[in-house]
Amino acid sequence: MEQNNTLPEWNDKFSVNVDVIDEDHQAFFRLAALMQDVVSSPSNEQTYLIETAINILEEYIEGHFLREQLAMAKIDYPQLAEHISAHDAFDDRVTLLIKEYRTNHDLTTILALARLVADWLTQHIQGVDLQYKGLLTNENVDNRALVYLAAGLDPVFAP
Ligand SMILES: [Fe+2]
Repeated sequence: MEQNNTLPEWNDKFSVNVDVIDEDHQAFFRLAALMQDVVSSPSNEQTYLIETAINILEEYIEGHFLREQLAMAKIDYPQLAEHISAHDAFDDRVTLLIKEYRTNHDLTTILALARLVADWLTQHIQGVDLQYKGLLTNENVDNRALVYLAAGLDPVFAP
């Protein structure tokens, strides 16, 4: 299991100049690294830690994507539809791997999940997210905790 498994990490050049979005992105990288660490550190808590990481990942995917999409919708961002498709395609791949892990409990599936999250995000930020840099700002992005977004609570974008 010990191949070249160094995951990409956050880099300042990934910044989209929206604090809360940069923080979300950094959390995804940390979560990927955490999943990898947990796999390589067997303990009594390993299964629990993996399940917790998966739950947080699901919450981040739902809440963070919603945060970006709501902000893009608010400014009539022209590439909104393509951006949503990119998020959905990633979400489908993650969901599949999580389902696979919950069926086989194979730790290599978690390594694949960590790899997917870190690699996809690296590509997505540079290829897609950076295109909204300067259009989405600290002022027009909802910066509440993800749980509010994921739960659809109190949309702040009502006119
Ligand atoms: Fe995005």
